[in-house]
Amino acid sequence: MPRVLVLPGDGIGVEVTKVSLDILEILGKKHGVEFEFETGLFGGSSIDAHGIPVTKEVLDKAKASDAVLMGAVGGPKWENLEHAKKPESGLLAIRKELDAFANLRPAVVYPALADASTLKRDVVEGTDIMVVRELTGGIYFGTPRGIDKISDGEEKGYNTLVYTTHEIERIARVAFDIARKRKKRVTSIDKANVLEVMQLWRTIVTKVREEEYPDVELEHLYVDNAAMQLIRRPKSFDVMLAGNLFGDIISDEAAQLTGSLGMLPSASIGKGALYEPVHGSAPDIAGQDIANPIASLLTTAMMLKYSLNLDKAAVEIEDAVKRVLEKGYRTADIYQEGTKKVGCAEMGRLVAEELNG
Ligand code: IPM
Ligand code: MG
Repeated sequence: MPRVLVLPGDGIGVEVTKVSLDILEILGKKHGVEFEFETGLFGGSSIDAHGIPVTKEVLDKAKASDAVLMGAVGGPKWENLEHAKKPESGLLAIRKELDAFANLRPAVVYPALADASTLKRDVVEGTDIMVVRELTGGIYFGTPRGIDKISDGEEKGYNTLVYTTHEIERIARVAFDIARKRKKRVTSIDKANVLEVMQLWRTIVTKVREEEYPDVELEHLYVDNAAMQLIRRPKSFDVMLAGNLFGDIISDEAAQLTGSLGMLPSASIGKGALYEPVHGSAPDIAGQDIANPIASLLTTAMMLKYSLNLDKAAVEIEDAVKRVLEKGYRTADIYQEGTKKVGCAEMGRLVAEELNG
């Protein structure tokens, strides 16, 4: 019985997660799997109830689950809290607690949606990238960090970008393993021309490839160049490997290639596993039943594949989503003239209909 902790979080996280749970119920029946769901508060909703973005109880439950399915966190209501009490800190805490060091962010341009991209169709069509982002190290967690007063009217803010051999090796292996199942090409992103830590990054990634993955092609790009090449020749990339901060930036850029953040799933895996759509809580459209549940649905598919060993069910979700898009149904974020606009729940119902065939 797979145990799944569900953390809908804030804003549209609640609506899109509900759609995914309905779909999981259908798939459970179809495949004779009984999911054991538990729901917890996370982010702003946890701050409102407990004063902190994630409680120890929720973290413990997360560790005891086979997978955690998240919605989204944050919103203007909690924006001005001190750093440690912000919803985002809860997200970082759960990633760290689960040792979910590998963040997988696929950016796939669906043929039916190529015109939704801000880039020309012939540039983006066929793009299929997997961003592998290191998630529990680098400048997000490095110490020392802080804001110190150094004199009257003068403060100093600082963070530390640090990676150890072991941290680089393990994330590089994830990237190379994934590349082996794809087009066998890894682009490693760094800033080795300026930062020592990134020199180490390049050296270790090169070594792991030479010793363990000689069959995989490896290219190194400085992050500024990578950002440019990604919009110039997106189709040429297969797996893009990056540290925490660079991966954060590059994965948003890759997301935009596809035309909608509302389409992109992600998996954060390590000891535990956290599944989170790439989009945020979108407070401006929350509660209006207009959010796109596809990112959450595809995130659920990743969970079925990477944590619950239900590959077949995962592919069923992906295919059902594709068919609904091909039939011309769109939520507002990917709507174009000539297509049929539907809301969040309705999009979920259409996917369910495809699954029930
Ligand atoms: C992401 C987000 C988070 C991050 C924020 C919300 C902490 O931007 O998942 O990409 O920076 O990791
Ligand atoms: Mg981000």
